[in-house]
Amino acid sequence: MSTLAIDGGTPVRTDPWPTRVQIDDQEIDAVTNLMNDAKSGGAFDRYGGEHVDDYEVEFAEAIGTAWATGTSAGTAAIHSALAALQLEPGTEVISAPITDQGAIMPVVAQGLIPVFADASPECMNMSPDGVRAKITERTGAIVCAHIAGIPCEMDEIMSIAAEHDLFVIEDCAQAHGATWDGEFVGSIAHIGAYSLMSGKHTVAGGQGGMVVTDDEELYWNAKRFADRGKPFNSEVETNLFLGLNYRMTELDAVIGRVQLGKMVDIADRRRAFVSKLEEEIADLEAFSVCWYPERSRPSWWFLLIRIHEEKLTCDKARAVDTLGAEGIPMTPNYGAIAPRAHWLRKQSAFGRESHFPWDVVWPDGDWEWALDVPNAWAADDNHMRLGIHECCGEQEAVDTAEALRKIEEACLA
Ligand SMILES: Cc1ncc(COP(=O)(O)O)c(C=O)c1O
Repeated sequence: MSTLAIDGGTPVRTDPWPTRVQIDDQEIDAVTNLMNDAKSGGAFDRYGGEHVDDYEVEFAEAIGTAWATGTSAGTAAIHSALAALQLEPGTEVISAPITDQGAIMPVVAQGLIPVFADASPECMNMSPDGVRAKITERTGAIVCAHIAGIPCEMDEIMSIAAEHDLFVIEDCAQAHGATWDGEFVGSIAHIGAYSLMSGKHTVAGGQGGMVVTDDEELYWNAKRFADRGKPFNSEVETNLFLGLNYRMTELDAVIGRVQLGKMVDIADRRRAFVSKLEEEIADLEAFSVCWYPERSRPSWWFLLIRIHEEKLTCDKARAVDTLGAEGIPMTPNYGAIAPRAHWLRKQSAFGRESHFPWDVVWPDGDWEWALDVPNAWAADDNHMRLGIHECCGEQEAVDTAEALRKIEEACLA
């Protein structure tokens, strides 16, 4: 048995972990061309330009939906998708237990109430049972998030939604290139939202978002909402309903169009890393790649490693430090348990004192049930997080496996 690096042994890896490089000359050329056009009067907002329009058509084609509309961020895409549903204020929206606040804040901003579905302890996504347990007569929609690039159990979620006549929004911010039963995420539910911020699988101009749908009415509503309720495709001549300015710019779109062409390759390279790691650690007892549904093909925005602490003589914190000493930049967890956020615990959205809109819908103040997601906390405890990306290759997978094996050999209970 080799001595762990943390105890003075030789580390598995001394090379730095690869840096993710997202941009190459193609994006630089696209931006340069746009700006050169602008010098002779060309547009770089979407009005008068052609790149946002083209990006939307190409994005819809790539994902397999009839329609797509660009926005200024993933948060804006979620907000526009929610607004497109035209739910009555106070409607409860079943939300993901582990996700970015950019998927929750639009719910409240739209006068709706987030109610969190629990996960299973083996997964950071909402579970079908978790969804079922939170449905009430006030529920109007489900926003499911494919966290870490792992698709939610979409068949079950869609059949629960059909049973209760609910809309489903897929939050695909972390899951570009992931599929469910061979179809890209975002094309399964009624409407989908992508974040195109830098660091995501593909990026627009550093920030950006896209709403995708097969439903023409939802498409027009999302597009109208993202541009101050403008009456696109309507006989009304003035602004139709409340909306915001969430428009994508031409500058975002020229970068996004190049990036879209790289989406599948980026997802495939991440999958190759994870397949190699799975193969290398198949016999370990204390560590495995996290669970994902059989019908899913994750695209791994980051990698979750399941740790069975009960099989080790060391705890997770020590395992993470030990992996770090071996040259593997593991972190203890993802940590984005949505209902732990201060503003949700304090119901702090509008004004200083008000608990609007919660107090209107639940005047008796009984709202703890909506925040209760014990399995999500367990899932966060049971997993470690590794920042993998398409610049990580076979060597990084082999090194990660070797470091995990070293810990298991030294610390198996
Ligand atoms: C799951 C999820 N939803 C929504 C968002 C919000 O996207 P954006 O930061 O582009 O507004 C993020 C961003 O990280 C996310 O991870």
